[in-house]
Amino acid sequence: MAEVIIAQNQEQASSIAAEHIAQKIVNKPDFVLGLATGSTPLALYKQLTQIIQERQIDVSHVQGFALDEYVGLPKDHPESYFSVIRKEVVDPMGLNPDLIHTPSGDFGTVETAGEYYETQIKIAGGVDLQILGVGQDGHIGFNEPGSSLASRTRIKTLTQKTRQDNARFFDSIDQVPHHCVTQGIGTILEARHLVLLAFGETKADAIAGCVEGSISSSNPASALQLHPHATVLLDQAAASKLQHKDYYQYAFENKPSWQGI
Ligand code: GLP
Repeated sequence: MAEVIIAQNQEQASSIAAEHIAQKIVNKPDFVLGLATGSTPLALYKQLTQIIQERQIDVSHVQGFALDEYVGLPKDHPESYFSVIRKEVVDPMGLNPDLIHTPSGDFGTVETAGEYYETQIKIAGGVDLQILGVGQDGHIGFNEPGSSLASRTRIKTLTQKTRQDNARFFDSIDQVPHHCVTQGIGTILEARHLVLLAFGETKADAIAGCVEGSISSSNPASALQLHPHATVLLDQAAASKLQHKDYYQYAFENKPSWQGI
């Protein structure tokens, strides 16, 4: 089972993750960080940036792999995940842009982008820690419900719900692409540590399914139950539909301090 940590709020949950990642980078300067987009990890990125700057942590060898990318947006479009990661992660943290990757199909066609990305991840030595958000329908990366739990990086069609959810970043829904390239669920499960964050009531159903529901491609986030080291960091609202909430809280409060996440 994933470790479920129910924090007071997004700031506290993000700070637990940021502290952990910062320490990992100190221990392993060429740490391979799996990056998520969306609004969920933004507070984590801000806090990690602050820690890196305050403690002057050397991040010049950190490698990064984004989970996904839209198909059809030029790289320099402000909403391409390439641009978003550059703006929210690479520039503020001072990472080396040459070591940060998005599955953009730069080398070859969109059909070969998945295979190429899988090779790049392998060459980097695999992802050490994958940051994840979750869609209201339980999608991770852009693996919409129905995605094979063994899937690899590939092109996917976004659901209308995801396009509507993400329309807030664009002028209108018509500008939201229909397709994306996303790491598969099988790819994500190969990261050594999964850290999924979710905040707010709109994520409560997806989280209940992810943590306590049946493992099913109908709820891609439930694949976390198959992973030997997964951490789910929540605020009170996202945790509100968990049946064993009190136990998770109790376990966390009584956790030996040496254990980390
Ligand atoms: C997008 C991203 C996902 C992200 C999800 C949730 O679909 N591809 O990686 O988890 O949005 O977004 P938010 O964090 O804004 O709720």
